[in-house]
Amino acid sequence: MDDSRETFRKAFVVGYPVKHSRSPLIHSYWLTKMAIDGCYQRLELPPEQFPSFMLALGEGSSGFIGGNVTIPHKEIAFRLVVDPDELAIELGAVNTLWCEHGRLRATNTDGYGFLANLDDRCPGWDKFKQRAVILGAGGASRAVIQAVRDRGFAEIHVLNRTVDRARQLADRFGDRVHAGPFEATDERMAGADLFINTTSLGMDGSRVPEFDFTRMRPGSVVTDIVYVPLMTQFLLAAQEQGMLVVDGLGMLLHQAVPGFEKWFGQRPLVSQDLRERVISDMVAG
Ligand code: ATR
Repeated sequence: MDDSRETFRKAFVVGYPVKHSRSPLIHSYWLTKMAIDGCYQRLELPPEQFPSFMLALGEGSSGFIGGNVTIPHKEIAFRLVVDPDELAIELGAVNTLWCEHGRLRATNTDGYGFLANLDDRCPGWDKFKQRAVILGAGGASRAVIQAVRDRGFAEIHVLNRTVDRARQLADRFGDRVHAGPFEATDERMAGADLFINTTSLGMDGSRVPEFDFTRMRPGSVVTDIVYVPLMTQFLLAAQEQGMLVVDGLGMLLHQAVPGFEKWFGQRPLVSQDLRERVISDMVAG
């Protein structure tokens, strides 16, 4: 198998369905911008075809140097890969695959994307790291919990409609992580430095519950991993109540950076121009 940085320059995003993925737009933008002779393709593979694709990728016979994995393949990809990194092992899911010294490697860059977005859009956001409140305990919240914990937050409160799922994550991510019911959100928000929505609430402009963000420490940060619409109901409400808000689009853009660098050998920039391209694409539907 060839190394990701040698001759082959073909990467993919594999999912089922995958037609709504904006990853091809992002990676194609960078390939053009950096004049790299490569391509990034959508691959729609049903679950029954996924294991044989992973096998071919590992053997170096797929024609690809690596790629992204999206829903519903992230967990099965983790199980099929021999050599996931520590982040992926704790999450039990991967989103980025690449070939290195003849071995198929895997990681999960969602947590990196989450942190890099905040670092980029709100420098100093992590000056106070006493308490973070995370709404939701689905697949997307795991990488966020891990990232916030690894950035050094003292208390992380995971609140979910189905409390049992929040408890499972508290058990998985260690004693700084506490579980609670959705209804405890206002109460746990008291004195918090960071609030993150990882649920699907607010997607496509739907109504969300009203929270009292003013209970948080003044000047604290509210962010949402939902990015359609860009300013979700949570963000609008938090902004109105005087909080600093960061939309979730940057997480999508930044999570793509490490993969691109591994496949194509150059680290790309998340620029305002790229952001605007993706927003135009979202508007066009
Ligand atoms: P993902 O992998 O994208 O995180 P998911 O696993 O389906 O998707 O999780 C979606 C999250 O949104 C969950 O935390 C879910 O709560 P439950 O675990 O109780 O299902 C949350 N969610 C979705 N709709 C919700 C609603 N109407 N009210 C509260 N939480 C909701």
